[in-house]
Amino acid sequence: MDHRSARALLEWYIDLGADECIQDSPINRYELPDAAPVSVRKAAPALPDTKPAPARPRVVAMAQVDTVAEAQRAARSAPDLAALKAALAAFPHCDLRRGARNLVFADGQPGARVMIVGEAPGRDEDQEGRPFVGVAGQLLDRMLAAIGLARDAAEPDQAVYITNVLPWRPTQNRDPVAEEIAMMRPFVERHIALAKPEVLILMGNHACDALLHRKGILRLRGQWTEAAGLPVMPMTHPAYLLRNPAAKREAWADLLDVRARLDQTRGAR
Ligand code: URA
Repeated sequence: MDHRSARALLEWYIDLGADECIQDSPINRYELPDAAPVSVRKAAPALPDTKPAPARPRVVAMAQVDTVAEAQRAARSAPDLAALKAALAAFPHCDLRRGARNLVFADGQPGARVMIVGEAPGRDEDQEGRPFVGVAGQLLDRMLAAIGLARDAAEPDQAVYITNVLPWRPTQNRDPVAEEIAMMRPFVERHIALAKPEVLILMGNHACDALLHRKGILRLRGQWTEAAGLPVMPMTHPAYLLRNPAAKREAWADLLDVRARLDQTRGAR
């Protein structure tokens, strides 16, 4: 194999989510002999006059965990953002964490007037552990700059705080499924309550699904609504805008609407 083919193969593996070497050489697990059953406890020697107990079907008890209730409990018990991040890092029930390189919690300034909720980390975000750092994120930064906002601004008036509905990258960038959104919703709601923004921007369908319980971003965008007791502006996702540049006109109108609201309500909180 020449180096170009080897590189293409490696890139393909990475796209599939196989981006880490666990051992120095591969193991073909299909060729391994079946593992011998492990005896957990030695049976006590039978008493001479004891009749053998009738065979009972072996029942494997699968504990049913209410993962949404677990998420609610974990999120509710976090008194601040650092504790919320730790609670997410310790939350064992979302399988996405197993395929992800990093937990992607948030970026920007907590306490900013504007909080943005996106969908899920992609490959770049998974690698860096920060939301919206890939090409869609670069467009988002330019959009925000156009209305005088930046994630690295120190002043709450010019700052933004950014998170996603899902804190772990779904492999191959697939869409989140309903169970994942339901499980992560309590964390996002708590995240908003602790970050205390004045205005929320929901980027794309999955953010609307999580916080408005509604989909159909092309109908929802541009209309102020409410969630978590805050004014909410749903917008088309920057990744959509990259694929559909004609939609940038409407996104610009939505951003101007956000700017106008911030100007009208400055100093009100
Ligand atoms: N898209 C998102 O919704 N969030 C990210 O962090 C990156 C891309």
